[in-house]
Amino acid sequence: MNITILAIESSCDETAAAVIRNGKILSNIIATQEIHAKYGGIVPELASRAHQQNIVPVVLDALNTANITKYDLNAVAYTQGPGLLGSLLVGVSFAKAYAMGLNLPTIAINHMQAHILAHFIDDPKPSFPFLCLTVSGGHTQLVKVISHLEMEIIGQTNDDAVGEAFDKTAKLLGLPYPGGPLIDQYAQLGNPLAYKFPQVDMPNLDFSFSGIKTSFLYFLKEKTKTNPEFITENRNDICASVQFTLISILIKKLKKAVAETGITSIAIAGGVSANKGLRNTLEKLAQQNNWQIFIPKFEYCTDNAAMIAMAAHYHYLQGRYANLETVPDPRMKIPNSTLHL
Ligand code: KG4
Ligand code: ZN
Repeated sequence: MNITILAIESSCDETAAAVIRNGKILSNIIATQEIHAKYGGIVPELASRAHQQNIVPVVLDALNTANITKYDLNAVAYTQGPGLLGSLLVGVSFAKAYAMGLNLPTIAINHMQAHILAHFIDDPKPSFPFLCLTVSGGHTQLVKVISHLEMEIIGQTNDDAVGEAFDKTAKLLGLPYPGGPLIDQYAQLGNPLAYKFPQVDMPNLDFSFSGIKTSFLYFLKEKTKTNPEFITENRNDICASVQFTLISILIKKLKKAVAETGITSIAIAGGVSANKGLRNTLEKLAQQNNWQIFIPKFEYCTDNAAMIAMAAHYHYLQGRYANLETVPDPRMKIPNSTLHL
């Protein structure tokens, strides 16, 4: 019998739906909300409204592209959290109502776990255990992945996420939201050692990124006082230097995690794993240290529903269903994960 699941992602500013059959993605549709760019960040109320408008066409597109009808489905999955409450509510409510109308079970998925499970969409797939550096707009975590649905968080940020640090520094440079991809683009053309920013070193495997934002703000104030054109004249070098600092903080902890766990099979996941500087640095390190690395395809780095579908497939195999009482959880932790700090 086929196992065919519709998965819905609406945790932040992408309305997405995907269909998976027997573990293979048949469609992966995303409607990106452009409206937030002009506000310099996500406006939660506008995000929920856009999800309301996009959800039906995105789901229909996902079914059509997969060349199936709703009657071919065995389950409907949705992102339960973490994320913005109003955004999550749209996906969760839609999925529950749709499943109820079709008399199907629902599956509630943790968004961060799904970012990691995106590595099981295509070959090569990592074997267990592996370490995953999960880097997104809302999270920065070092996760020991024991099996598809068993994970241990061994380090995490104590303040800002690394994606947030990218976006906030980009904003100070006058770049539109989300600034991470733009910093990455300009950084390719600049000198990463042109400027130096302090790196706050946390004990254990934790991260801190809030200090860099503040020091960057003072750095720009100082420089633009004497030269108002400082940013435009040095944009590439500034971006390269900021990016170098952020990647250095991530890599330092990743090396420490490898030393502490002895695990040399390493994956990256989440929006910031699209960063070319991070991808190149990891590739070099893997060669030098004989690590096996897993870098997701660009389309599976940032938010998408294919990763939710992949996670749903493993939940379905284990009979892990949600019920009508399952509600959105904006601060949801990876289920069954132990936190070792
Ligand atoms: O995983 P994601 O799409 O959403 C969350 O779950 O947060 O991650 C979005 C984050 C944003 O902060 C965005 O600026 C960052 O990923 N990002 C990047 C790049 N592409 C996306 N940061 C640096 N370089 C990139 N190429
Ligand atoms: Zn995400």
